[in-house]
Amino acid sequence: MNISDRQSIHGQWSSRWTFILAATGAAVGLGNIWKFPYLTGQNGGSAFVLIYVVCVATLGIPLMMAEILLGRRGRSTPIRTMQILAEETNTTQWWQIIGWSGTLAGMLILSYYSVIGGWTLAYIFKSAAGTFSGASGQLATDTFSIFIGSGTTLFFWHTAFMFLTMGVVAGGVQGGLEKAVQILMPTLFILLLLMVGYSMTTGFFGKGLTFLFTPDFSKISGTSMLSAMGQAFFSLSLGMGTIMIYGSYVPKDTSIASTSIIIALADTVVALLAGMAIFPIVFATNLEPGSGPGLIFQTLPVAFGNMTGGLAFGSLFFILLLVAAWTSSISLIEPLVTWLIENFGLTRIKAAIYSGVVTWLLGLGTVWSFNWWAGLTFFGLTFFDLLDFVTSNLMLPLGGILIALFAGWLMKAENTKAELRITNHTTYVIWRNLVRYIAPVAVFIVLLNAVGIL
Ligand code: PHE
Repeated sequence: MNISDRQSIHGQWSSRWTFILAATGAAVGLGNIWKFPYLTGQNGGSAFVLIYVVCVATLGIPLMMAEILLGRRGRSTPIRTMQILAEETNTTQWWQIIGWSGTLAGMLILSYYSVIGGWTLAYIFKSAAGTFSGASGQLATDTFSIFIGSGTTLFFWHTAFMFLTMGVVAGGVQGGLEKAVQILMPTLFILLLLMVGYSMTTGFFGKGLTFLFTPDFSKISGTSMLSAMGQAFFSLSLGMGTIMIYGSYVPKDTSIASTSIIIALADTVVALLAGMAIFPIVFATNLEPGSGPGLIFQTLPVAFGNMTGGLAFGSLFFILLLVAAWTSSISLIEPLVTWLIENFGLTRIKAAIYSGVVTWLLGLGTVWSFNWWAGLTFFGLTFFDLLDFVTSNLMLPLGGILIALFAGWLMKAENTKAELRITNHTTYVIWRNLVRYIAPVAVFIVLLNAVGIL
């Protein structure tokens, strides 16, 4: 059988739009609304935003194309896909490392993603109960510190979020979720616009925009560049097999190039809107932009607490954020679950339970890194910070380099060209040069710089 006619045993998207929706659902998540603003705050604002956008355009889009292309050609789990493609290109099976490291990264990321997903869940109830009615910045900050200070509370919400994730994964993703996302993602988008509208009334909108968009190059450092690049990988879900496995369900005649651009654009717009909604409130309430992972949980409640209909909007917003997190969390564990099914003949339910239990246990490290174990650090980082650093800043970029090298150097040009279905020769040449030279070299330099070698 011709390799490009192969089908995944796990299924196929019903159309190009279903794929765009599912991939956008995976990409748009806590990374955009929770992580992007606090990283921007911690890294001094606009310079970070600029590097982020440049990384998305020059590394993110070409790599997303490469990752979808590998997935569609292999049509299997990331590990098996790399095995098949290594055979096809007559190279060493060591390339399977892309699949292994990606599958592991997905599990590691989900272990802490679930903890933050739990915060979102808790905040739905807090908002609905009116905790933030008329709230000041101080009240929101205090509420948040009491919340994360309790190891038992976080344990409970992390467990609840993990149940939600594994429930969907166990049942298979297609049916309900795809349909739900179709309505919920646009609603999230509209609510974000509404939040931006509210931010305009705070009197600090201009200051927020300046903070985000007036570049100050003196703030650029090796670490901030690494964070911006890591965030681009994280937010686009690149370098870890998620996009690869979603790519393996993509219909044959779909244009990978335009699809990747749409997904990356949607993802970036949501992140920028989140920044525009949050920073004016940060300045209006005298909060610290660099206050870290709690940023949106300390700012948005103030906005909701002080606007008309805030009780409803607040609860709705956290519900939608939960959905955004949910559509991403299921994709994080998909490579591991399908791998267990393929290799151990487990049922999907069993595979989901095993993966869920291991990930949940690991997540306890993050749960307690905010309270009981806060003093326990490794290289100066808490367990959560360490996990996040190793996955976003090391594993995903390294996975990205390997994917770029494989697609750019090892696969035959005729094969990548056929798979990408780019008819314009110049566009293809640009893509090929980006993945052969620019992406691997750029990522490598940033990595070396950040570990202090360069
Ligand atoms: N991209 C998701 C987000 O922004 C997180 C994610 C990372 C999902 C990697 C899948 C794979 O929240």
